[in-house]
Amino acid sequence: QFMKTFVEGERWHLFWQGFGNTILISLFAVVIGVIIGLLVGVVRVYHNQTGKWKVPNAVCRAYVSVIRGTPMILQLMIWYYIIFASLNRDYVLFVAVLGFGLNSGAYVSEIIRGGIQSIDVGQMEAGRSLGLSQVQTMRFIILPQAVKNSLPALGNEFIVLLKETSVAGTITVIDLTQAANLVRANTYEPFFPLIAVAVVYWVLVTGLSALLKRAERRMAKSDRG
Ligand code: ARG
Repeated sequence: QFMKTFVEGERWHLFWQGFGNTILISLFAVVIGVIIGLLVGVVRVYHNQTGKWKVPNAVCRAYVSVIRGTPMILQLMIWYYIIFASLNRDYVLFVAVLGFGLNSGAYVSEIIRGGIQSIDVGQMEAGRSLGLSQVQTMRFIILPQAVKNSLPALGNEFIVLLKETSVAGTITVIDLTQAANLVRANTYEPFFPLIAVAVVYWVLVTGLSALLKRAERRMAKSDRG
């Protein structure tokens, strides 16, 4: 009976809905992840270098430890079934964005921390001796170079995040993977939905890495100019 009602148009509707949700979650989560990652990364470096900001640093360390120490899929379930259990289920996309964003932030913060620590201490000394404050030197001298050095690792993180959203189905989000799985379950035809969706991820990731390569090249140019 259901097979009859699962008409041709329905699977395309599911597919486009899944495509939209995968893109939407990835985009918003990347933004959240980068903002959190920058803040957490800077706090941790600042503490390492000056010994100040003990409490913020401890909070940041705990955050990175918990996020990196537990599986993404479990974090997502904890957000949805425990922390936001009383939230209206219409907001599941918001919960997913938050879950993926907070997860990514921990990884981004380590990338940023590594990026900043790769910059020679002479850069800070040079900035200070030019009359810039510590914060100004960090903002205008150190961070731009750190972000540039971190770009390949950040690109990798975006790719991981995009593919990681494929577990969003566990909290009832209809993302690309979940759409394929629903079509598979309703049509008893696994091949087309699963392979088609795999190709879509591949195209998205390939496009993204081409974009990142361009950004890297543009930034490398300013080194020689
Ligand atoms: N799949 C792994 C996990 O469940 C890796 C998640 C990594 N996420 C990221 N944004 N880099 O923990």
